[in-house]
Amino acid sequence: MSNRMWGGRFAEGPDAIMEEINASIDYDRKLYKQDIDGSKAHVRMLAEKEIVTRDDAEKIVGGLDTILSEIENGEFKFSRALEDIHMNVEARLAELIGPAAGRLHTARSRNDQVATDFRLWVRDTLDTLDEQLSDLMLALAEKAETHAADVMPGFTHLQSAQPVTFGHHLLAYVEMFARDRGRVRDARRRMNECPLGSAALAGTSFPIDRKLTAEALGFDRPTANSLDAVSDRDFVIEALSASAMTAMHLSRLAEEIVIWCSAQFGFVKLSDKFSTGSSIMPQKKNPDAAELVRAKSGRIYGSLQALLVMMKGLPLAYSKDMQEDKEQAFDGLASVSLALAAMTGMVKDLEPVTKAMKKAAGSGYSTATDLADWLVRVLGMPFRDAHHVTGRIVGLAVVKGVELHKVPLDEMQKVDPKITGEVFSVLSVDKSVRSRTSFGGTSPVNVRKQARRWLKELSRG
Ligand code: ARG
Repeated sequence: MSNRMWGGRFAEGPDAIMEEINASIDYDRKLYKQDIDGSKAHVRMLAEKEIVTRDDAEKIVGGLDTILSEIENGEFKFSRALEDIHMNVEARLAELIGPAAGRLHTARSRNDQVATDFRLWVRDTLDTLDEQLSDLMLALAEKAETHAADVMPGFTHLQSAQPVTFGHHLLAYVEMFARDRGRVRDARRRMNECPLGSAALAGTSFPIDRKLTAEALGFDRPTANSLDAVSDRDFVIEALSASAMTAMHLSRLAEEIVIWCSAQFGFVKLSDKFSTGSSIMPQKKNPDAAELVRAKSGRIYGSLQALLVMMKGLPLAYSKDMQEDKEQAFDGLASVSLALAAMTGMVKDLEPVTKAMKKAAGSGYSTATDLADWLVRVLGMPFRDAHHVTGRIVGLAVVKGVELHKVPLDEMQKVDPKITGEVFSVLSVDKSVRSRTSFGGTSPVNVRKQARRWLKELSRG
């Protein structure tokens, strides 16, 4: 049997393999709500413009509401022979209300329909990501305020570099996620135009009012070019691209958590809620949630890459290739959402082991720069000379196997006789972080101020 929605010119139905490659209903059923909302807005506009009668429009809206509840109650029978969500809904509408159903598709095509449905879905998803990013930033900023003065080693090349505070480290991620949030909001603003009424590719000869449908669906305006409107998937690619950046940031933080909770570092304790045990090694507590967040980035980048390649080289306007956007987008965007939720949970429960962090902060000659700065400030040495003198003192400490503040004064004076006992005042990690008061620096005063700024900004929404 040929397809009852478009089979007029076909003598035979599709091959089983054709049905399998062509049908999208197994995944695009996710768009049922958006599809029904779009159809309701469309038919109400058709009635307003007297393209269909009020009576038919009411029947159609009533039927669509019935379908919505059938789907939500799990009573709806999805059919692969009907290909996609659009034709599944329309075919059921015909069963429910009879011939009036056939008027719904006036001045519309599945091409503008799917573009509208998918935009609505991506828009909701962007709003969810926006909120989730805000939740994560809040969890980080709250922890940062509490630990504004707790010292930890700061690293470059993953080698101890200079002491920083744990709060400062967490706020670095708040900055990253704030930029991500900006990208999500920017993408939403740009994508909020309505393709409905672009029809197959060229627009329609019916006197439709595209502003009306755009407004009814919460769009800022109708899209201005029908060819672009039906063949554009920038909105989902932008959503995935913003998500890829978020995934990269999440993965970096996840990696740090994995490192921090190792026995060798012991900087943080993960809660039982976000870790797992080993089936053979009873002592183990593994940071599985962090590892999975780290790994999800691969899927998210993959989705972005798949869509970029899929769109590349497609001539205007719609091609069926574009049906392949959905599974990738659903998977990529669900993955970033889940990773954000898991990270927020982990951060909330994360307990820093401040003693261990402080001890580590003082090792590895991490206050060498403070010593060099002291030589510049107090003895008036040029920085390059101070760097050299400090290097020689670090060399002494290495030979003696002691930390910098344990090198005796007379030994230091052998390197430079002008050094006085006052130098020891800058060699502690607390003094070191407290002295970093330059804007954006790690001093607890700065960190507290920045944490409060974020908390205030986030409470404003
Ligand atoms: N299921 C299709 C998709 O997702 C809907 C649009 C089909 N349009 C067409 N001309 N065959 O892209």
